Amino acid sequence: MTASASLLRVQRAISRSGKRTYHDLTTLPNHKPVISHGPPGYSATSGHVVTVFGCTGFLGRYLISKLAKMGTQVIVPYRDEDDKRHLKPMGDLGQIVPMEWDIRNETQIAECLRHSDIVFNLVGRDYETKNFTYSQVLAEGAHRIAKVAADVGVPRLVHLSHLNASHNSKSKFYQSKAEGEELVKEAYNGATIIRPGAMYGYEDKLLNNLAAWPMFWKLNDARTKTRPVHVLDVAQALANLVHGSRLSRTVNLPGPSTLTHEYLLDLVSSLTFQPESRVPVVPKSVALLAARMAQIPWWPMLSPDEVERRYIDDADTNGDWDVVGVTPAEIEQHAITYVRRYRSAENFSRPPVFPARTAVVSEEVL
Ligand SMILES: NC(=O)c1ccc[n+]([C@@H]2O[C@H](COP(=O)([O-])OP(=O)(O)OC[C@H]3O[C@@H](n4cnc5c(N)ncnc54)[C@H](OP(=O)(O)O)[C@@H]3O)[C@@H](O)[C@H]2O)c1
Repeated sequence: MTASASLLRVQRAISRSGKRTYHDLTTLPNHKPVISHGPPGYSATSGHVVTVFGCTGFLGRYLISKLAKMGTQVIVPYRDEDDKRHLKPMGDLGQIVPMEWDIRNETQIAECLRHSDIVFNLVGRDYETKNFTYSQVLAEGAHRIAKVAADVGVPRLVHLSHLNASHNSKSKFYQSKAEGEELVKEAYNGATIIRPGAMYGYEDKLLNNLAAWPMFWKLNDARTKTRPVHVLDVAQALANLVHGSRLSRTVNLPGPSTLTHEYLLDLVSSLTFQPESRVPVVPKSVALLAARMAQIPWWPMLSPDEVERRYIDDADTNGDWDVVGVTPAEIEQHAITYVRRYRSAENFSRPPVFPARTAVVSEEVL
């Protein structure tokens, strides 16, 4: 019998006999003792209650899945009925609790977080809409959540920022992220600020965009340096924070290597067996003009700020992965999973082919 099978037998025996052991006792960050119960996994109850604002986005679904598997009850604030439906089956009955909210409504924010011992703020938008500017979402909205969390007495707040957040950035998005960090720290003493690099995964705007719109990644002669990180690594890092002690600091989570856009274009074209794009490099002024015109339809297209960001190298700061107990994966380990769908039918099952890492700028020593 394998070790995991015998462990499962012991756990079943304990749960049948109704006996509890010392490790079932959890002390929540608000010093409430809770006795976890139920079999491990999907139907477990760890005693933690967590609110995840911005749960309906790309990172949100992976974080909710990991939290629910640990037996955490998760409050999932949503704006659109349909956007939270995939989250509900991630936990057993009663574990995933959807609540409608508006980022401008403090009463609703308080309702969403009043029972939680940790609040994650994953709210973000990398383009402006007619209803919200960057500052309204990334700075004012973040400040409101932090202020309400402090007023209600939530023991821990984790705020998602960006690796490139900076007041001096040419991008309004990065500026607003920096402003948001400052306002969050001002309103909530001891917040954890997480700064991931560009994330890749099934629903990303990196590999999918490289495959669909290579032209926009050729800006700046494709020399811009980026530090892509796997979305599951970031989700695991966040999930690990639930069991650790309060982390009152900024945690940088860049990918393990610094790569140029040129290398990423090569990688996607090798993995998908698609020929390299022959579209010429567009000058910045032309790209900005096209992006301004692309703002006329209601659906999101490349924004002028995104064009600006294509010229900004990722910050050169060291990763703090050891603090969150995760070793980040290289993009080559997972990229094929996410870009296989861009292959033609005859190439679909061929083994992946990787380009030489000549265009790699550096591999960070973590
Ligand atoms: N993706 C990356 O590569 C990356 C890299 C570094 C940092 N980050 C940061 O990490 C966090 C999560 O990223 P993500 O990729 O998961 O973002 P995402 O897919 O764009 O999701 C953003 C979430 O924010 C919510 N949101 C946006 N505007 C809102 C508003 N005005 N009111 C209420 N909710 C609003 C969205 O809700 P709806 O579904 O209702 O619109 C969604 O749940 C964000 O703060 C992002 O800036 C992302």
